Amino acid sequence: MEKENKFIVLLLLSFMATIIGTLILKHKDNQTIKTHLTNSTIKIQEASYSITPIKDSEHFMVSAFIDHRLDGAIRVISIIKRNNLQPLYCVYCTTEHDCKTVETEVQIHTDHFGFPFHVSDVICKGKNMQSASHVLITTHPTKHLYNINMEYLPINNNLVTDNFKYNFTVCISNLFGSYNNVLQFAQTMEMYKLLGVQHVVIYNTSCGADLKKLLKHYESEGFLEIVSWPIDKFLNPSPGWNFQEHKGDLHYYGQLVTLNECIYRHMYQSRYVLLNDIDEIIMPYKYSNLQSLMEDLQSADPSNGVFLIENHIFPKTQFEDSGKFKREEWKNISGINIMEHIYREPERKNVYNPTKMIVNPRKVEQTSVHSSLKNFGGSYHVPFNVCRIVHVRVPLQGHLTKEELFVDKRVWDFENNLIPNVDRTLKLSGLLKDSS
Ligand SMILES: *[C@@H]1O[C@H](CO)[C@@H](O)[C@H](O)[C@H]1NC(C)=O
Ligand SMILES: *[C@@H]1O[C@H](CO)[C@@H](O)[C@H](O)[C@H]1NC(C)=O
Ligand SMILES: *[C@@H]1O[C@H](CO)[C@@H](O)[C@H](O)[C@H]1NC(C)=O
Ligand SMILES: *[C@@H]1O[C@H](CO)[C@@H](O)[C@H](O)[C@H]1NC(C)=O
Repeated sequence: MEKENKFIVLLLLSFMATIIGTLILKHKDNQTIKTHLTNSTIKIQEASYSITPIKDSEHFMVSAFIDHRLDGAIRVISIIKRNNLQPLYCVYCTTEHDCKTVETEVQIHTDHFGFPFHVSDVICKGKNMQSASHVLITTHPTKHLYNINMEYLPINNNLVTDNFKYNFTVCISNLFGSYNNVLQFAQTMEMYKLLGVQHVVIYNTSCGADLKKLLKHYESEGFLEIVSWPIDKFLNPSPGWNFQEHKGDLHYYGQLVTLNECIYRHMYQSRYVLLNDIDEIIMPYKYSNLQSLMEDLQSADPSNGVFLIENHIFPKTQFEDSGKFKREEWKNISGINIMEHIYREPERKNVYNPTKMIVNPRKVEQTSVHSSLKNFGGSYHVPFNVCRIVHVRVPLQGHLTKEELFVDKRVWDFENNLIPNVDRTLKLSGLLKDSS
């Protein structure tokens, strides 16, 4: 009798132990894989480039942010080789150098245009991520590998704030080749200043010699932030947008990586972010500046976070007749003089006119070039008469004569301020002799 009782008790006990054990294991699986490394086993070594290879894989990590809209998860903007995705793990460390490892969810953006590598979000969810300072992505979830010299990314956006340093930031996705269109760049930057932009970011792979002087000037002035983007050291970036046509590893020098990076980089720094190319100006027509434009657009619907702006082509092959902007001072400056190109191409029937964007970065989760892929608020197509893009470039409809184009002199409205400002900048950059 006693024996039997003992046996039942033992049976019960072992049964309970199994259940508890299973629960603990399960709990561990959900939470963390290995925990609590001490200071002696980990050395936080910050990544030295904006592009960091993920060890034992073909992928790269770029930068890491707390995403407060996703319960404080860590989002690591990454470049993933799409056909070779293995399980990835996040090692995240608090300032006390206490690290935890969690499994990740990899979200490859949908707009890959067939390229083998593409921008992706590696999402890490776990406890107390908001107090973490550094993170790395690894293919090995086990402890013994941490102490190898691995490079960690600092984690940004730890705190939510609506005390923005800037109201308007322009993200210019990529600068590459020996691009040296100095005059158009200076005119664009000065125009943006007049429109109320306080900050411009450019991702630099390479540039021409004169443009470099101009960029250095704007950087020293505090208006321009140059992010080093040596993508050509790691991959064979494509010069085009479509894999079938242009080949290469990654869409257009990584434009989709840098646009997404720029949005997260400025989430709590800038009220709005403009996403456009180096030769495009997002130009308010109904208002004299971006501040009035956005006040109007947001008062109509405060929930909107993405504003689509139509692109319009001003062919660099058509010059205005008076020649009043053929200035002696600019003869020696390389690049296009946008003041001379006031003829705008008409829209084509059955051809979609691509848009660029002004976004509230806090309402965007993933962006493409012409629209947002995932956003929290609404998206609004801004009417052509309210705001449109002035894009001076090679014509798209080169067969059209001047008479078949529209006269659009919007840039002339700014001549009184724009011209002296451009001249001053060129002088300060050492591109124009200071004869005055
Ligand atoms: C780890 O190092 C940091 C700074 O080096 C120190 O402040 C902290 O107390 C250390 N933690 C442990 C558990 O030793
Ligand atoms: C930024 O926007 C806020 C709110 O719209 C405004 O009060 C402030 O003056 C603006 N700052 C600058 C520098 O334009
Ligand atoms: C852009 O990157 C190239 C290549 O690294 C570098 O030589 C050049 O100085 C950079 N330009 C600026 C303005 O930083
Ligand atoms: C024009 O450019 C050349 C070569 O860069 C330079 O030597 C000359 O001083 C420039 N002239 C003016 C007026 O800036």
